[in-house]
Amino acid sequence: MRKKIVAGNWKMNKFLTEGIQLTVDILVELERNPPKHTVILCPPFIHLSELSKVLKECSFIKIGAQNCYYKDSGAFTGEVSVPMLASLGIDYVITGHSERRQLFFETDEIIAQKVKAILAHGLKPIFCCGEPLDVREKNEHLNYVSNQVQKSLFNLSQQEIKSVVIAYEPIWAIGTGVNASPEQAQEMHLFIRNLLKEKFGNESADLTTILYGGSVKSENAATLFSKPDVDGGLIGGASLQASEFMKIVRSLPN
Ligand code: 13P
Repeated sequence: MRKKIVAGNWKMNKFLTEGIQLTVDILVELERNPPKHTVILCPPFIHLSELSKVLKECSFIKIGAQNCYYKDSGAFTGEVSVPMLASLGIDYVITGHSERRQLFFETDEIIAQKVKAILAHGLKPIFCCGEPLDVREKNEHLNYVSNQVQKSLFNLSQQEIKSVVIAYEPIWAIGTGVNASPEQAQEMHLFIRNLLKEKFGNESADLTTILYGGSVKSENAATLFSKPDVDGGLIGGASLQASEFMKIVRSLPN
């Protein structure tokens, strides 16, 4: 059975004290009734050390970083390496997010190197893909995402792909309040799973968790999560408030 996940991507939000408070609120609520699936919190880098202390004893909340560099160390001003994240006990790293592709000019090749580095150090990438609006309007979204997946993941081994989480995040749905419909999400998730089947075989593809991201809220989470190839969500804005995030977490069937 593949892992189901709800992950919160806080992006560049929350001061450290606020981030700790949000984490404690989520922890207290989940401890009352622990979920069967995994919850991941992805705060800004400067929160990671403190959050790993707060969540040390907790088995069902994992911590993810929002980015990394692919070199282990050296003269790369402003960057954070995967071994540094590993030393804090971080489990996941988001990579390929459209905001990093668009605002920080990350290419498929850079993302491929990051995926490799994350796996090499025993962490799990949350690899994001997704098309812009004009591509969807031209009905070229399947090709577009196929290209992203092939360029950044198809150099992996059958073993490595099993540790990758994929997040389909159509750019037109991110932060807009307009989510993909459950049918649009299901179409793309099944398409991605079939791509993985062709390349890596049925077993690896069936085990790969594919999350949906883009304007997920408590009102739409349950219908999105009810689709057979939607294995959970990567949540932006709605992950910044404990009560709203908890409703989304509880919407994911165990
Ligand atoms: P929103 O949930 O704010 O649309 O953001 C989605 C996202 O980009 C998560 O990585």
